[in-house]
Amino acid sequence: MTMDGAALLAHAAEAAEHAYAPYSRFRVGAVAVTADGRRFVGVNVENAAYGSTICAEASAISAAVTAGARDIDTVAVYSLDGHDCFPCGNCRQFMHEFGVATVIVADAAGAPVAYPLEDLLPHGFGPESLSQ
Ligand code: THU
Repeated sequence: MTMDGAALLAHAAEAAEHAYAPYSRFRVGAVAVTADGRRFVGVNVENAAYGSTICAEASAISAAVTAGARDIDTVAVYSLDGHDCFPCGNCRQFMHEFGVATVIVADAAGAPVAYPLEDLLPHGFGPESLSQ
């Protein structure tokens, strides 16, 4: 893994300080990196109606889309409260929509590990699936 992975995890960790996670106390930050190199951060935003919670990855991707950036290359995700914080199924689907190629998570030692989204979500359902 390159230095860039470590830098992205550090950025995600910094963002995670702003997580709103009073129920799970599991603070997550994410960074979405666009094809042209812009970074957008997100955090998990929980809700007293638990099912209304938004994950950090979905927040970061939403921030990118809000800014007009739809071509997202990489998403890094980091929890201040546990390692191996892999994206949930819904977030994998969210990533697939915007062409994410690589997901970076931290291992037990805090080192970045990169996974192709294709490995985390094989045969994903995407926009192309609707136009056959
Ligand atoms: N969470 C994320 O934000 N991203 C993940 O990849 C896993 C889970 C959040 C949702 C919830 O606020 C808390 O972590 C515990 O599930």
